[in-house]
Amino acid sequence: MTRHFLEVDDLSPAELASVLDRSEAPPGRLGQPLAGRGVALVMEKPSNRTRNSSEMAIVQLGGHPVTIRAEELGLDSRETVEDVARTLGCYHTVIGARVFAQSTLVRMVAALDQAGMPVPVVNLLSDEGHPCQALADLLTLRQCLDGLEGRTVAWVGDGNNVCRSLAIAGAMAGLRVKVASPPGFGLTPADLDRVAVAARDGAVPQVELTEDPRAAVAGADAIYTDVWTSMGQEAEAAERRRAFEGYTVDESLLRLAAPHAVVLHCLPAHRGEEVSPGVIDGPRSVVWRQAANRMHTMRGLLAWLVESA
Ligand code: CP
Ligand code: NVA
Repeated sequence: MTRHFLEVDDLSPAELASVLDRSEAPPGRLGQPLAGRGVALVMEKPSNRTRNSSEMAIVQLGGHPVTIRAEELGLDSRETVEDVARTLGCYHTVIGARVFAQSTLVRMVAALDQAGMPVPVVNLLSDEGHPCQALADLLTLRQCLDGLEGRTVAWVGDGNNVCRSLAIAGAMAGLRVKVASPPGFGLTPADLDRVAVAARDGAVPQVELTEDPRAAVAGADAIYTDVWTSMGQEAEAAERRRAFEGYTVDESLLRLAAPHAVVLHCLPAHRGEEVSPGVIDGPRSVVWRQAANRMHTMRGLLAWLVESA
């Protein structure tokens, strides 16, 4: 059965650890498993990090990336999502897609599986999750905190796609995740149920929700934030700016965290909204290491997927 990567819990906790280990291996050690092969990257939304890190990871594994803006394909207008996926499956070894709706990824998987095409689909960000980002987040935390087990990351802001994938990945790796969001913008009970299922056998998933950023951050080993308005939510920007007042990760909030605490942001960042310039550009910020890790973890993931095929 073809292994797809629509969310981090498509891996077992042991497989997740193995992908992270592969991501830290020097590129040459992974060989050229994509030599002579293509990887399609379908983009329904803009991207800087995801596109560039994916393309370079594919090149490092010997492959050829083909990035395609969704307008060129006309998903469900020029032809169906299913026909797009099956066509790309004729040429490419893996299909990555950044989509508005998670259901588009699910349809791609179903079309490929039904056609007997053994082509993994990788979620490059959807309304529901950003699992490739979560791989880089875990690797960055593991490197900066000397391990993940028992460490605490405080998420301050929107319980969005990045937050959901981080919570799932964290539960699988023994990381405590405290999420502080305004009322109506937090993770849902359904998210917590999924986190509980994803957690390692016998482990109590350690995701806690609060509305108080100060409570979440107190003593934390890391603070993580993301934009208040995600791609596709632009019409809600003014309302969201009001709702998230008081949720800026600034110097006074950072002082409540552990003295060694690091600051993460998936980027792009809006300085002065979810994070102050002094924090994101300050000495505790690890956002460039995190961005670099997008490439290393994409290389680790693709190598694992091709090996598992
Ligand atoms: N973090 C991230 O996914 O960045 P891009 O939207 O630029 O790809
Ligand atoms: N939550 C953001 C993440 C961008 C990488 C968005 O979906 O726009």
